[in-house]
Amino acid sequence: MSYKRVGIVGVGNVGSSIAYNLAFQDICDEILLKDIREDFTKAVALDISQAISSINSKTTIKATCSDEEFKDCDIVVITAGIARKPNMSRDDLLFTNAKIMNSIVQNVVKYNKDSILIIVSNPLDAMVYCALKASNFPRNRVLGMAGILDSSRMSYFIKKKIGYKKIEAMVLGGHGDDMVPLIKHTKVDGIPLDEVLNENEIEDIIEKTKNGGIEIVKLLQTGSAYFAPAQATVLMLEAILEDKKTAYPCAVNLEGEYGYKDVVTGVPIVLGEKGVLQIIEMELSSKEKKEFANSVNSVKTLIKKLEENI
Ligand code: 2OP
Repeated sequence: MSYKRVGIVGVGNVGSSIAYNLAFQDICDEILLKDIREDFTKAVALDISQAISSINSKTTIKATCSDEEFKDCDIVVITAGIARKPNMSRDDLLFTNAKIMNSIVQNVVKYNKDSILIIVSNPLDAMVYCALKASNFPRNRVLGMAGILDSSRMSYFIKKKIGYKKIEAMVLGGHGDDMVPLIKHTKVDGIPLDEVLNENEIEDIIEKTKNGGIEIVKLLQTGSAYFAPAQATVLMLEAILEDKKTAYPCAVNLEGEYGYKDVVTGVPIVLGEKGVLQIIEMELSSKEKKEFANSVNSVKTLIKKLEENI
């Protein structure tokens, strides 16, 4: 990539936090913001531009409402859609956000034929599937942010329990109530979690991780989390922009890996300039295989609902 342009569709809390965080990394030439709220989006672009001028970041931030102007992005991040309310699950957003996702992707791909799409909208895995079908892009260029977020929530709860240590958590499966925290692959100073905490303590960490998002929704009342989702997205952007070839859990369409086909779920992938470079097949215990199957089946149910209602 020579001139690097990152587009963000949907400049709500998540979209603007991604732009703010990314601009401070100083790793792309331009961030192009697109939202239906023209003045609001211009204000966000100006505010972030003024913030980063203190560090001399080379990134310029522009705002647009026009499909034609939102073009030639190397990566397009889509955060648009409604967020859940305190009494809702992510799945309750399915039909509303699928409609929004389909129409956005159809417009985005007209002017961004070679870009990589990163989907952030919920229900995440089903939205990645919609974007994959609506874009007709190969699967290595359509991926979803969630595994890094769920893993960082898990690390946080472990840290809260035992204090600071080098924690590497790993959560696979869909970004929903049946996500799959991998205990053997979650390490505290290199030691598997089940050698550090007992069964009840681990159960408690898993419950907290699964409820990490809704806890924030309930406290905010007006929307869902944004700083942690934004940070997770920026790690993905960094890996692509800088061709880091880093392994992260992300949502991708499976084509036989883990025994599943034509369904999106969170698995470890290697991420670089061309998008998904490799899907890593981890060894799962029989309990984890069962949980993974449950999680995949939940996503399949959502996809089926969508297909039946189109
Ligand atoms: C979350 O878990 C919004 O799904 C996002 O916070």
